Amino acid sequence: MSFDVRAGTWDASDRRQALAEAVAQAIRERFDLESSMHLLDIGAGTGLLTRRLLPFVGKMSAVDTSAGMLERLRENLADSDDRVTIYHTDIVGFDNPEPFDGIVSSMTIHHIEDTKMLFEKLHAMLKPGGFIALADLAPEDGTFHDHGNEGVFHFGFEEASLKKIAEDAGFESLAYRIVHTVDKGAKGTYDIFLLTATKPPLR
Ligand SMILES: C[S@@+](CC[C@H](N)C(=O)[O-])C[C@H]1O[C@@H](n2cnc3c(N)ncnc32)[C@H](O)[C@@H]1O
Repeated sequence: MSFDVRAGTWDASDRRQALAEAVAQAIRERFDLESSMHLLDIGAGTGLLTRRLLPFVGKMSAVDTSAGMLERLRENLADSDDRVTIYHTDIVGFDNPEPFDGIVSSMTIHHIEDTKMLFEKLHAMLKPGGFIALADLAPEDGTFHDHGNEGVFHFGFEEASLKKIAEDAGFESLAYRIVHTVDKGAKGTYDIFLLTATKPPLR
């Protein structure tokens, strides 16, 4: 089932709200967010993460391929949309108008096939000294998605290999930490990591 179709009921899930809350909290614990900052949220969807970080930064950009999810984001941001710029595009082809102070994401990078290319792009889109904070599934057995695995290119990410990809792309100060566990009852539990790293400052 496409994200366009699921957009209408996306925010009604307590499980998704709890995940986004845990990720936002972990990002705020790791980085000192400031009102001068411009963050990018990749695969922002309806804005579960964007909306939780917006009060702590100056502005945000939200990129997503789903028109339906972005329509919900626009509705959700009715009071503060002047601080959020929305781009309906694939992150792979996104041409950022200015470099970002930080790039965040929750539950999106397993939908992007070429992880190495993604990290090289993230690095290029950041200011020197900027950060990434990306949350996604730790390795899983392919059962996480209740609606099938169409558009799922990775069954989670293993710590060492993801860190190596980030390091090869030029990031430093890497950390991979489990910040949340999704409980799907009889199906089992699924750990969610937050990968954080910085682009070296100009020396
Ligand atoms: C699982 S949802 C997560 C949405 C939101 N971050 C959240 O936590 O609720 C993944 C989102 O990534 C978007 N997406 C998938 N592939 C993408 C790509 N290549 N570029 C931009 N967005 C993408 C989907 O449309 C969807 O809204």
